Amino acid sequence: MKKLVIAIDGYSACGKSTMAKQLAKELGYVYIDSGAMYRAITLYFIRQCVDIASNDEVLQALKNIQLSFLNNPETGQSDIYLNGENVESEIRSMEVAEKVSVVAANPDVRTFAVEEQRRLGREKGIVMDGRDIGTTVFPEAELKLFVTANPEIRAQRRYQELKQSGAAITLEEVKKNLLERDAIDSARATSPLKKAEDAIEIDTTFLTREEQLKKIMNSFDCITEIKH
Ligand code: CDP
Repeated sequence: MKKLVIAIDGYSACGKSTMAKQLAKELGYVYIDSGAMYRAITLYFIRQCVDIASNDEVLQALKNIQLSFLNNPETGQSDIYLNGENVESEIRSMEVAEKVSVVAANPDVRTFAVEEQRRLGREKGIVMDGRDIGTTVFPEAELKLFVTANPEIRAQRRYQELKQSGAAITLEEVKKNLLERDAIDSARATSPLKKAEDAIEIDTTFLTREEQLKKIMNSFDCITEIKH
């Protein structure tokens, strides 16, 4: 069967990546975490003390960034590499989370990341999650999902993840960061977070992983029936 592009967008920590990984596994597609790319760029900017207000500094820094995804045989997932270094766990820190939305709002950063994302999607057979995948990166994607969930549930889920990785953080701090990022991501001038007109909305607040997968596979089956 012809391979498709599946775009999953939505708010912070609403279950997009779990959904994208499930779907990619089920279909034998490649999963690409576009948020990891913005996080890796942010990590580089932090390390190199790049002034986000300086166009020259941003453009120069972007020239020195190379991003790639490589399969991690231990987890079966693909890890992101920044200039050859595996930064998969470092990019999940609160320090990066606190700065990423400001970096991701920069138009030059977005041009750079979107170009990389389109290159990765050229072969099709991919599931990509983010904020602007269905609206900007792949407006022609055959299936678009827009994911939402109650903010309390989102904060709880992210808090558990961060605690498991050993981070010293409170639930309130996590919630504040999610809401701040949502506000910046939705208000920015360049490709803000919004539902594509032809996206299917899925609220994961009360869904188990199994129910979630069933719902998205139904959407996938509907789309493939219509298209073939
Ligand atoms: O996992 P979580 O939903 O918390 O966020 P993420 O997908 O790792 O994305 C981190 C940040 O990158 C977001 O808050 C956005 O500011 C930015 N981002 C973006 O602007 N466009 C995308 N396609 C993906 C992420």
